[in-house]
Amino acid sequence: PDQISHDLKSILLTEEQIQAKIRELAAEVEKDYEGRDLLLVGVLKGAIMVMADFARALNRHVEMDWVAYSSYGSGTRSSGVVRILKDLDTDITDRHVLIVEDIVDTGLTLSWLVANLRSRGPASVEICTLLRKPEATRMSVPVKYVGFDIPDEFVVGYGLDYAEKYRNLRCVGTLAPHVYQTSG
Ligand code: PRP
Ligand code: MN
Ligand code: MG
Repeated sequence: PDQISHDLKSILLTEEQIQAKIRELAAEVEKDYEGRDLLLVGVLKGAIMVMADFARALNRHVEMDWVAYSSYGSGTRSSGVVRILKDLDTDITDRHVLIVEDIVDTGLTLSWLVANLRSRGPASVEICTLLRKPEATRMSVPVKYVGFDIPDEFVVGYGLDYAEKYRNLRCVGTLAPHVYQTSG
């Protein structure tokens, strides 16, 4: 029971696949933001792993800040109703902002965040996400940098949780049925 990998039904993305993709995204971002300052904004808590690896894959100066919000959702779906738990420490007026996310699922909370940040007069706001689900492609806010488009399945690992667990997995995978059936 201490082996979290025993709770996985399948591995969707290995540690190697994730790290290779993060290096690709970082190279793209380095090129696109050449000569411009860059503020990375991570969305707590899911984005912590992507942020840590993505920021270190960038061979340039960056600043990092964090937002946390509650989407009034429980279980495996979010509701789109947003309450800010932690706002940016940074004044983003005239700043180039790149939001860093682990996954865009419905895109509801992210479109709200983008609108909120745009209202503060930044030079630009773009989104970088490791994972994107099909529903998010219908989102009004375009996601500029996408690691992987994945099927509409509930996934955990590499920052993504189920009931706050599994964030510390190095891979991304789906959970075995017994996880949903028992508690503890
Ligand atoms: C998850 C995930 C994204 C968001 C995506 O966060 O990390 O931030 O949901 O869902 P959406 O596209 O439908 O809005 P969650 O609210 O579970 O908080 P967490 O990051 O602390 O796990
Ligand atoms: Mn999140
Ligand atoms: Mg979550």
